[in-house]
Amino acid sequence: MSDLPIELINKVTWKIPNALCLLGSRSGDEWNGMTQSWLTQVSMEPVLIAASVDRKAVTHRLIDESRVFTVNLWNAEDTRPFVKFSKPAAKEGMTLNERPIREGATGAPIFEEAIAYLECEVREAIDVGTHTLFLGEVVAAGINDDEAEVAAMSHTRMKYGGVKRH
Ligand SMILES: Cc1cc2nc3c(=O)[nH]c(=O)nc-3n(C[C@H](O)[C@H](O)[C@H](O)COP(=O)(O)O)c2cc1C
Repeated sequence: MSDLPIELINKVTWKIPNALCLLGSRSGDEWNGMTQSWLTQVSMEPVLIAASVDRKAVTHRLIDESRVFTVNLWNAEDTRPFVKFSKPAAKEGMTLNERPIREGATGAPIFEEAIAYLECEVREAIDVGTHTLFLGEVVAAGINDDEAEVAAMSHTRMKYGGVKRH
C-alpha cells in the first residue's frame, strides 16, 4: 500500500458512486445524526445493510452501545444537512440540528423529512481498520415521498474516503 500513489487512490475511490444519507443513532439520552456515504445492502435473507462507521465518531459509540441504527434517505434537492451533520449534532427537543425527528421502533431517531428510512438491528460488527462495518438487519422501514430523487455524493461537491490523511 505504501508504494501506491495517494492522489491516484483518492481520485479513483472518490469516483465510486455512493448515496448520501443521515445515519441515526441513539444510546440513552444521547441522540445523533451523521452524514454517511459508505452504505449498501449486503444480503437478501436476512435483509442486511452494511454501514461503515469511523471508530472515532460519536455515532460509532452510540451504535456500539445500543446495537441499532437508522438509515435516512434524503431528497437530492436538499443537500445542506450533509454539511451540518458532518460533526456531532445538537439536539433540542425532538430535533437534531433543527431537523425534526421521532423515536423509531428501535429507539433510534427517524428524521421526519427523510424521503424513506430503514431501521436496523446490528447483527455483526466487523473491525475493518479505521472503521467498523456494522451489519444491520432491517426491522422496520417507511416511505414519505416515493417520487423524490435520493441524494447522492454526486449531487454535492463533497468527498469522503480515499487514503487517510495524517
Ligand atoms: C460527504 C461525507 C460523507 C461521509 N461519509 C461517512 C461514512 O460513510 N462513514 C463515516 O464514518 N463517516 C462519514 N463521514 C464523516 C462523518 O459525517 C463525520 O466524521 C461525523 O460527523 C463524525 O461523526 P459523529 O458526529 O458521530 O462524531 C462523511 C462526511 C462527509 C462530509
